[in-house]
Amino acid sequence: MGISIKTAPELEKMRAANGVVGRLLVELASRVKPGVSTQALDDFSRGFIESQGAKPAFLGYHGYPASICASVNEQVVHGIPSDRILVEGDIVGIDVGAVLDGFVGDAARTFPVGKISGEAAKLLSVTREALNQGIAAARNNGHVQDIGAAVQAYAEAAGFSVVRDFVGHGIGRAMHEDPQVPNYGRRGLGPKLKSGMTLAIEPMVNAGSFAVDVLPDGWTVMTRDRRLSAHFEDTVIITEGEPEIITRLD
Ligand code: CO
Repeated sequence: MGISIKTAPELEKMRAANGVVGRLLVELASRVKPGVSTQALDDFSRGFIESQGAKPAFLGYHGYPASICASVNEQVVHGIPSDRILVEGDIVGIDVGAVLDGFVGDAARTFPVGKISGEAAKLLSVTREALNQGIAAARNNGHVQDIGAAVQAYAEAAGFSVVRDFVGHGIGRAMHEDPQVPNYGRRGLGPKLKSGMTLAIEPMVNAGSFAVDVLPDGWTVMTRDRRLSAHFEDTVIITEGEPEIITRLD
């Protein structure tokens, strides 16, 4: 299947669906604090998504049991919300998805829980900026691997590594469309980017090695060396000029 180019009315629906997840992440930022369980964040998120007339995109996806992913510390992505209580010093990656009017929104942030270590703070700021670098490389007539090359160069220059086993993706009527968007690669390689494409760009950056394992629950991804990992994700529209980030409020 080729990479879909969205029409103007389809892009409007993408902005609406992704606006829901962008607003939810802002609400979550102030609710992540010591003493809160990841299940409480899931409950809040489901209520928020439904209050917007949308549906949680993750709930039931390949049997996934919750509305958000909440990945703590050495968990990379796809952590399942539970009665685990967040404590001061944790970092928690929260990934949210919503379906509105037939289109999918998808975005993630990694939040500090109270005061965190210097290494954790650096990992968050480097991963956030690696995402910005990847987004800036997502240009009409460029190539998919321009994105990963930019992410990888930034993260590795800071002494961190980028996860290979999970990637970003095209997004639209389905959460996962073509193309795959790796967070590593070589400039000039991969499918050509064209205005009207919509991509979820989502670097996962590890403090140590890029090796990861999936736990026996079938979902939770952990760093093999059990060092910290962070994840930031935005959905963007490729345009004739700067990419349009539709999961950030400004
Ligand atoms: Co995604």
